Amino acid sequence: MPIILWKLVFILLTTTVIGIFSCCYSNVIPEGDPNIPAIAKYFCTKGRYEEVNPYLIQDILAVNRSILKPPSARCRQIHLTAIIRHGTRYPTAKNVQKMQKLYELVRSSATAKHSWLQEIQTQWKMWYTEEMDGRLVQKGVDDHKHLAIRLSKLFPSMISEEKLRGRLIKFITSSKHRCINSTLSFQAGLTELWNIKDMEFDHAVNDALMRFFDQCDRFVQEVEKNPSALTEVDKFKQGPEMKRVQQKIADRLGVPYDLITDDMAEAAFYMCAYEFAIKTVNSPWCHLFDEVDAQVMEYAIDLKQFWKRGYGHDINSKSSCILFHDAFSRLDQAVAESKSDQPVTEAVTVQVGHAETLLPLLTLLGFFKDNNTLMSTNYASQTQRSFRTSCMLPYAANLLLVLYDCGRDGLRLQPLLNEKPVAFPGLNDQQASMPLYQDVREHYKHLLRGCDFETECRLFTNPTDA
Ligand SMILES: *[C@@H]1O[C@H](CO)[C@@H](O)[C@H](O)[C@H]1NC(C)=O
Ligand SMILES: *[C@@H]1O[C@H](CO)[C@@H](O)[C@H](O)[C@H]1NC(C)=O
Ligand SMILES: *[C@@H]1O[C@H](CO)[C@@H](O)[C@H](O)[C@H]1NC(C)=O
Repeated sequence: MPIILWKLVFILLTTTVIGIFSCCYSNVIPEGDPNIPAIAKYFCTKGRYEEVNPYLIQDILAVNRSILKPPSARCRQIHLTAIIRHGTRYPTAKNVQKMQKLYELVRSSATAKHSWLQEIQTQWKMWYTEEMDGRLVQKGVDDHKHLAIRLSKLFPSMISEEKLRGRLIKFITSSKHRCINSTLSFQAGLTELWNIKDMEFDHAVNDALMRFFDQCDRFVQEVEKNPSALTEVDKFKQGPEMKRVQQKIADRLGVPYDLITDDMAEAAFYMCAYEFAIKTVNSPWCHLFDEVDAQVMEYAIDLKQFWKRGYGHDINSKSSCILFHDAFSRLDQAVAESKSDQPVTEAVTVQVGHAETLLPLLTLLGFFKDNNTLMSTNYASQTQRSFRTSCMLPYAANLLLVLYDCGRDGLRLQPLLNEKPVAFPGLNDQQASMPLYQDVREHYKHLLRGCDFETECRLFTNPTDA
């Protein structure tokens, strides 16, 4: 192909990739559906997967294989790693307590006269209990069953009955109940699809891989247990934007301003979010926010994720070194086997973890890095930021790494986030969404050579000085 045509292909590819990538809000969400809260696209890590891929609202099993766009008909998939967040879950005990306090306040003190407020006070029942503590809900079971079926349609040669029966699909999960149940649900999606009744499939529990953040001493000491690591979050919560949201909530309820703390505002936001994510209802609680308020709430949560799991502190992403190396060593093995014309021994790896598993890894790989740091003071200039957990990390969020053998077009690696092809940030390649595997390795060579979990996570040493 002449150079000029290649350039055209490159421009087309990068624009589609970036177009998809820049923000999930540009997707068409059915306007004015009374069952969907107007603020549903700002629910951050409490958001529905369907808000990120709105075509799924019509058909939860919809798949468009032409998005994969392999560079030639020669390409065949040889390995797939899927790192998936658990599905929709109940609130944790701590959040249930906050929601309970809010509910009692609204029942006892709200004086405003709105029909939705009356509905909360007379009909709505506080049904969340502390025992629910973060367990997977039925919607979460469905999230993973449906995802499994869609992935089997998107990658029919990889997630296939033959490979499942041949035990070439391996399952690894965090020990948390919601993750184990998500893994079982993913498997059930496949066994029900193919009506497999004569076999059972196991899974390995591996917290070192899927909950690395608990085992990284330096992260625990310097971020998790260190209040000053989240100073920006605290400042924003005390700042003018949040104050305004709290006042508006108080006005809508008809209660004194000092009763609506930032915790109360957060509980109200989550009340609307959980009712929607778990039961798919547009609950009366959602009337406590307009879109402007929801954007402020979203920023407060993104700010926390940024400083606790994202670019805010270097150790956040480095804590995922173990998962990074795990993925690349499997890719290397598949490449080696493929090059020596052997069958790939581990065709598919399904790894189920948390938002806290995915975000550090996405950060390590350089995804969603904006020019400016998210701060308490730059809310207004961050409206176009790419770091948006609502788009990145809904329930059942997933990062897929798909390895292709394209014959004389080489071995190629395609990353997909939430079932959409993305480009490795900073990696310039003519096939932006499906670069040569060797180019990806070259791009991340500093991490492949270093990024040692033990070293990075050791306390009181600075590995960069070593
Ligand atoms: C599938 O994806 C291709 C490429 O992105 C697009 O052109 C086509 O319109 C999509 N088809 C459907 C049914 O959405
Ligand atoms: C999750 O798994 C546990 C134990 O296997 C089971 O008791 C529970 O009902 C499951 N929950 C869901 C939502 O599937
Ligand atoms: C970020 O900075 C680069 C280099 O200075 C610039 O080219 C780019 O347009 C900036 N991006 C945004 C979104 O401001």
